[in-house]
Amino acid sequence: MGRLADKVAVVFGGARGIGLATVKEFLDEGATVFASDIREPAEEIDHESYSHVVVDATDETQVDEFVRGVLAKTGRIDVLFNNVGIHLGKPLADTTLAEFDNIFALNVRAAFLGTRAVLPHMIERKTGSIITTSSNGGVMGRPGDPVYNATKHALVGMTKSLAVAHAHQGIRANTVNPGAIDTDMLRGTLSSPEEFEAKQHQLVASTPAARVGEAWEVAKAVVFLASDESRFINGIVVPIDGAKAAGALPGNRYSLDFELGVQ
Ligand SMILES: NC(=O)c1ccc[n+]([C@@H]2O[C@H](COP(=O)([O-])OP(=O)(O)OC[C@H]3O[C@@H](n4cnc5c(N)ncnc54)[C@H](O)[C@@H]3O)[C@@H](O)[C@H]2O)c1
Repeated sequence: MGRLADKVAVVFGGARGIGLATVKEFLDEGATVFASDIREPAEEIDHESYSHVVVDATDETQVDEFVRGVLAKTGRIDVLFNNVGIHLGKPLADTTLAEFDNIFALNVRAAFLGTRAVLPHMIERKTGSIITTSSNGGVMGRPGDPVYNATKHALVGMTKSLAVAHAHQGIRANTVNPGAIDTDMLRGTLSSPEEFEAKQHQLVASTPAARVGEAWEVAKAVVFLASDESRFINGIVVPIDGAKAAGALPGNRYSLDFELGVQ
């Protein structure tokens, strides 16, 4: 019996990377998964309990229709995974207002819309687990991407507040806070394979575990938060970052490789 047997899960941002890895873990654990993303999935998944639809998670109408459609089919949503996000690796002084508005409209608005669409149903059923992907930049300062980090801090604030407001109604809200994870997002911020190699070296130097993570390592934590094994865990941040957010490394470790402007 899977750890998510009989659970219905809705995923925003499930086409690739951490989202796709989580979709696969959810299915392995017995959940029925309704995935969505602005793009088609990067991999074909042939599973009777899986479907994927193209939804722009920043579009109120599309999000509400998607959630209404799931409820019409199943009558229940037990798990919501808000995973949509984009990165912006720019110093604050160089960030345009359009870039600022765009990243908040994506990273924060998507989680707001997804949660708002599902919450009344969870309140009615008095059960539900909401997991949102923040970042280690959601709990610590980083020099290279301050506005991205502001959106990820916002998600932590929203999540903790949801937990406090709705715990008595059987609803849990937690975040996963990945460090550097080898996905298209990480690679997409870089212009070439050589740059990826160079940056990976720097990411490794600033991570106590001395490596980047894999998408499935985040997905395993999402499964735990989605499952009843974590039923008294509410309003927390779960770093999956090889201890990066736990504290500073000795200066000589940074001085070898760390440059302002990288994560
Ligand atoms: N990879 C990392 O190092 C890292 C670190 C910390 C946090 N994160 C966070 O993890 C989450 C997943 O990132 P990832 O690394 O798997 O990157 P990714 O780019 O592979 O995944 C992001 C997903 O969001 C989808 N998306 C973007 N805009 C959308 C929209 N308007 N509507 C619906 N879907 C949309 C993308 O198509 C993509 O599938 C993001 O929230 C990201 O900020 C990633």
